[in-house]
Amino acid sequence: MDAIEALLTRRSIRRFHPDPVPRTDVERMLDVLFRSPSAADARPWQFGVVDRRDLLDRLAAAMPKCEMLREAPLALLICAEPAREKIAGFWPQDCAAATENLLIAAHALGYGAVWIGLHPVPDRERAVHDILRVPGDLVPFALVAIGRAAETPVPDERRDAARLHRNEW
Ligand SMILES: Cc1cc2nc3c(=O)[nH]c(=O)nc-3n(C[C@H](O)[C@H](O)[C@H](O)COP(=O)(O)O)c2cc1C
Repeated sequence: MDAIEALLTRRSIRRFHPDPVPRTDVERMLDVLFRSPSAADARPWQFGVVDRRDLLDRLAAAMPKCEMLREAPLALLICAEPAREKIAGFWPQDCAAATENLLIAAHALGYGAVWIGLHPVPDRERAVHDILRVPGDLVPFALVAIGRAAETPVPDERRDAARLHRNEW
């Protein structure tokens, strides 16, 4: 699958088969996370691998509408480390770029995945801090639940001519 096909066919997956994601594929996804772009190449992030069933279940129980974590065999955590910023204020964009890269990588490797937004939802940030013992100077930004897809949503047409402008509005 080339990059354009991956971008055009990706959908959020919230139902998963339970089989574990092989270590080699997890490492590949981590390579993609660490290779992401960031403002001034500051890389203001830390990443977490969560594959313990008890922790995934506790996260699902602590955060409303995160039931997909009960089925997913894996979640990768994107945390911001704001102190590493070189240009103030860019860390949410840096972390979003990494999260999106991960979604595409998971899809290209044949997995389903969904972005679970943590920042700026205080209850979700707190739950992840507590359950995964994330240090206080880091900001839990997003969890991405990953596994073999147990649903197959189709890519839908989203181009909207009314929202596209060429040169001037
Ligand atoms: C910043 C952000 C936060 C999101 N948070 C959640 C979430 O908490 N739970 C969820 O089920 N999906 C979440 N999503 C996935 C969106 O619901 C999904 O991308 C959107 O409905 C479009 O569907 P698609 O991903 O299949 O194209 C999030 C997506 C983004 C970009």
